[in-house]
Amino acid sequence: MAIVLGIETSCDETGIAVVEDGSRIVASALASQVPVHAQFGGVVPEIASRRHTQCISQLAQQTVDEAGVAVDAVAVTIGPGLMGALMVGVGFAKGLAYAWNVPLVPVHHIEGHIFSVFLTDSPPTFPFLALVVSGGHTCLIACDKPHQYRLLGSTRDDAVGESFDKVARLLDLPYPGGPSIQKTAEAGNPNAVRFPRGLGKSGELEFSYSGLKTSVLYARQRETASIPDLAASFQWAAVDVLVSKTRLAIERTGATRLVLAGGVAANRLLRERLVAELPIPVHMPPLSLCIDNGAMIAAAGDSRLRHGLCGHFRVTPNPNLPLCVPAQS
Ligand code: KG4
Ligand code: ZN
Repeated sequence: MAIVLGIETSCDETGIAVVEDGSRIVASALASQVPVHAQFGGVVPEIASRRHTQCISQLAQQTVDEAGVAVDAVAVTIGPGLMGALMVGVGFAKGLAYAWNVPLVPVHHIEGHIFSVFLTDSPPTFPFLALVVSGGHTCLIACDKPHQYRLLGSTRDDAVGESFDKVARLLDLPYPGGPSIQKTAEAGNPNAVRFPRGLGKSGELEFSYSGLKTSVLYARQRETASIPDLAASFQWAAVDVLVSKTRLAIERTGATRLVLAGGVAANRLLRERLVAELPIPVHMPPLSLCIDNGAMIAAAGDSRLRHGLCGHFRVTPNPNLPLCVPAQS
């Protein structure tokens, strides 16, 4: 049973956690930079790295003190993400692992999101299908065995979380767009405007969200629908595509379990519709583990450690790190 310290700094959250056995959070801390970036309407990379540098040491100290146990390995996100932000986490993790004389375990950010479901009371067993939806990613992944993935489809342009953030800006709603659109949509009619479903009828497992965003811009300029109606109609269309492409992926692969993960997995409509409309069980993390956090990195790191997939101290961050090569269809 290993105790793993997880470090996540790929974007605008500094997340640190101590996890036991890849399944139980012993201590965790998160420093969110949302209020800092909100005034710019999105993440400013240089500010993000500086903020990580300012708080990572104290946050790690606090987490380790609270856990009160010896750490067996240090897991860290090495990509994808913002280069400067990743460098802060990776450099810090190397220092800790070296000083404690424990293994350093590099973790792919998406793999971390997938492993957030192993921190729940009903973790899935392999194989399963994963829908990972965040500010940087929209992908369907066949997870055949631990650390063996096949990318079935991803976005050709904007990620779904990115489209929530951009549409929120078009509607004068605060950053991050996901929570503010969800809240505003509660007072709106999802059938008010029929927005396009990107690549909806293509029969492919690829996604496209930039056309949807442009359609919201034109609808906003026409001023025929209210802001809550636009938010609700946008959210319905964005979620509709995720549900239908996931259903298609289940039909194609015969998957018997779905894992939903990533920041957009916090979306209530998405969670409810996947559970109600899919023929297979859906495993999803609690809301607190949907957004970037250190515990998911520790959970993935624990599994990598068990499978002998540790890193060496020369490992470097990669902002465009691929999870796997696309699957041949
Ligand atoms: O996973 P995450 O914390 O960071 C990345 O890896 O990108 O995801 C952040 C994204 C943002 O785009 C944010 O708007 C979105 O997740 N998000 C949501 C909700 N909460 C966060 N999108 C839709 N509905 C939500 N409730
Ligand atoms: Zn993320």
